[in-house]
Amino acid sequence: MKKIIVVDNPLVKRDVTILRDKETDPNGFRLALDRVSHSIAIEISKSFDLTEFVVETPLEKTKGYKFSKQVILVPVLRAGLSMVSSFLEMIPDAKVGHIGLQRDEKTLKPIDYYYKAPKNLDESITIVLDPMLATGGSAVASFNSLKQKGAKKCILACLIAAPEGVEKMNNEHPDIQIYTAALDRQLNSVGYILPGLGDAGDRNFGTL
Ligand code: PRP
Ligand code: URA
Repeated sequence: MKKIIVVDNPLVKRDVTILRDKETDPNGFRLALDRVSHSIAIEISKSFDLTEFVVETPLEKTKGYKFSKQVILVPVLRAGLSMVSSFLEMIPDAKVGHIGLQRDEKTLKPIDYYYKAPKNLDESITIVLDPMLATGGSAVASFNSLKQKGAKKCILACLIAAPEGVEKMNNEHPDIQIYTAALDRQLNSVGYILPGLGDAGDRNFGTL
């Protein structure tokens, strides 16, 4: 069974359309990306275990809830940075690590240039943030590094996924649930997702 959940609601559909539109400027792109990221964070949170505790209102004691595990967000530089602020709004006590990967434009293989993640990965929920799952090379390399450092419960949050990337992730990391706002048709000959939204990093940061 494929481990992919497509977050499917009218707000997300409307915002993915804004992201795809080549006329959307970087500001409009960032705003739509923030809104979609909120929806994905909410969907992912449905998988979190909760611990009950007693909270005291001004009137009496009652049952309260907190996440059972620390959440660690790991954006893949650079485009993954665009999802961090929305996730932190929904999960303010999350810790944030960073993985630097750049796809080689010819081989499409990821070249890694940076790694920094909090300790206690093994006791936490690690959510990798990357808007694009294309060949899957970057996502697989990210989880290889994180698992090598001890990460156990891992999740991938993206915006647009290609079937090729989903298959690669399912083959190499079958334990990892993928959440996406859209599952697209295919990759083109240079590894871009079709219909996709173009280069997520360039569109978000205005470096086109
Ligand atoms: C993009 C994207 C992913 C990667 C996906 O990053 O943000 O990290 O490509 O492709 P893959 O699934 O084939 O590995 P890119 O290398 O363009 O770097 P950037 O974020 O710095 O623009
Ligand atoms: N990276 C992007 O930013 N866009 C794609 O379509 C594929 C990889």
